[in-house]
Amino acid sequence: MYRKLIALGGASLLLSASALAVHAEMVEPTVPPDPPKFTAQTEPVFVGISDIMEYRALDEYHEPEWVTEKFVETGKLPPVAERLPKEPLVFKAGNMPDGVGTYGDVMRHVIGGRPEGWNYIAGQSQGWGGIDIGMMECLTRVGPLFTVKADEVEPMPNLAKSWEWSEDGHQLTMHLIEGAKWSDGDPFDAEDVMFYWEDHVVDPNVSPLNGATVDTFGGAGTKLEALDDYTIRWTFEEAFPEQYLYQMAYGTFCPGPAHILKPEHPKYSDNTYDQYKNAFPPEFMNWPVMGAWVPVEHRSDDIIVLRRNPYYWKVDEEGNQLPYLDEVHYKLSTWADRDVQAVAGTGDFSNLEQPENYVEALRKAANEDAPARLAFGARTIGYTVYPNLSANGWGSPDARGQALRELNRNLDFRKAVSHALDRQRLGEALVKGPFTAIYPGGLYSGTSFYDKESTVYYPYSVETAQALLEKAGLTDTDGNGIVNFPDDTEGVAGEDVEVVMLINGDYQTDRSLAEGIIAMMERIGLRVVLDIQNSNTHDQLMQGGKFDWALNRNSEELATALKFTERLAPVGPRSTWTRRAGSDGTLDLLPFEEEMVQAVNAFTASTDNAERLELMKQYQKLYTENLWGIGVTQYPGALIINKRFANIPAGSPIFMFNWAEDNIIRERVYVPEDKQQDYELFAETLPGEPGADGPVN
Ligand code: GLA
Repeated sequence: MYRKLIALGGASLLLSASALAVHAEMVEPTVPPDPPKFTAQTEPVFVGISDIMEYRALDEYHEPEWVTEKFVETGKLPPVAERLPKEPLVFKAGNMPDGVGTYGDVMRHVIGGRPEGWNYIAGQSQGWGGIDIGMMECLTRVGPLFTVKADEVEPMPNLAKSWEWSEDGHQLTMHLIEGAKWSDGDPFDAEDVMFYWEDHVVDPNVSPLNGATVDTFGGAGTKLEALDDYTIRWTFEEAFPEQYLYQMAYGTFCPGPAHILKPEHPKYSDNTYDQYKNAFPPEFMNWPVMGAWVPVEHRSDDIIVLRRNPYYWKVDEEGNQLPYLDEVHYKLSTWADRDVQAVAGTGDFSNLEQPENYVEALRKAANEDAPARLAFGARTIGYTVYPNLSANGWGSPDARGQALRELNRNLDFRKAVSHALDRQRLGEALVKGPFTAIYPGGLYSGTSFYDKESTVYYPYSVETAQALLEKAGLTDTDGNGIVNFPDDTEGVAGEDVEVVMLINGDYQTDRSLAEGIIAMMERIGLRVVLDIQNSNTHDQLMQGGKFDWALNRNSEELATALKFTERLAPVGPRSTWTRRAGSDGTLDLLPFEEEMVQAVNAFTASTDNAERLELMKQYQKLYTENLWGIGVTQYPGALIINKRFANIPAGSPIFMFNWAEDNIIRERVYVPEDKQQDYELFAETLPGEPGADGPVN
């Protein structure tokens, strides 16, 4: 044993000697290698938006029989025709993969998050996994755009049923659906929209869950006003910024019920902002929604049950009020369990997104008797290490944190980190096979705006990384294997450089990648320690600037460039999640960030496709050459869904303009009668009064 240890020591000494010898041979940046070919298993059927839906009054309307018998005939509910808007949103039968559906059954989701409460627009999470997506409706809708013909891609109408631009392009007038109601029967109108805008988006004391701020819609120069109950008008500084229509979809313009929320908001009550945010805890049942299902039961760490919204404002072409599914479940478990249960048939749905589970899930799904189908989509999941580039006091760092932020702002330091990452190995450690691809950062290779030649890749080279660290002034002065802060660093002179990396502990993939990154950084003398948090705390810390590095699963902007465009660069003080203004409200942008901002603003302002392509090339070059974020790996995900469900669109990606829970249009999904199961926990009930106990019958 002793001998062996000595032998090992000798080998590593040899290694470092040879490392010194090649010190001068710095590896040059290049373009990324082509990702391994991975063909998505099914292709979408491409259609126009008007093939999918329209707004129209129908001659007659229907609902489940038990609703008529138990609720309408007993006088508890008005007839369905009176509960629907003048012109409901009609999903066309020709675009439904299996046609008009039947009522009944349940979709059983499993989620890894936990609900903080129902006040989404004041920043509370409901636990993710599509629970909020099923409860909320937004001005526009983008999830289903994966199936829209490339030249017709634009946000779909939703709560806003139509809109027009003024001649000069500075004003956008939107017409809201008329006569739609919240799930408790209260009218939905411009008051709900204006309350969301004025007292949440514009109010700096409130951060809606998905981070909407005025920056999301063009900044302080943007105005929104109500012209009447069903007409709102935007005024923008730019002409024709059609881009913002994408941001009016989930999750940045989905109003909450003003009639319930307003009395608790600090502007209209004695509450503090904290009291407002927390005024509707998970125990508050029958929360009014515009979405298809209403929460009626919450058992802590066990399950949330939602029942059909009797006032839902969408129908099929035969006048059947949607949704078809009477109930949905969210079992409160782990994300890994979501995969396991979906494959086993004890759950119904999963976004297979943690590659550690791919082989097992594929093996089980290949069995002919498997209860669920599994289909891979494009490579749209990616991870990035974001160095905190804000040295302006954001997140109130201590001396070490401040020194780290200054280091992060040094390009040689960021390059060193990138060269130290063996991305091939990090990907293969998650799963072997053609799934993962080297990801230098920026737009994903599957994105229509991606350009390989504009993508700068700093390939794996420990020697280059070490040389760059030295160039950044970092050497190991005390011989303990970890580089030290230079002597002139304020507060931490000569101390070991220790980086705190924030990760989301709810996902095994985040943990696996983080472990790999720690080992690779150690090889170049950087000590990385993890700050592992659950989703809710993680998001708060990240948006509060409390991190040196953040390892993040990326969001829609890198998969489409169109959705959440404002997150591509710090175009405003709070537009991105990892780069924000300090307490004085200003951003300390680096010169390349100024250029990124210009490119993104020009992209938003342009409607010329050739010009937009060019701008995204510039953006990609600036991003990857300067390592605004340090890309790690990108890979495809698979939708797992129980075989009894009908109307699942072909080629639904688990992630593109939105998550699959929106993409598959759940309100149209149904279970044919002969396949229906006995999973309903609250059969033949509807949501009760807001705040009252559970469902009623
Ligand atoms: C979580 C899950 C995703 C998806 C989203 C929906 O982030 O990991 O797969 O379900 O929630 O918001």
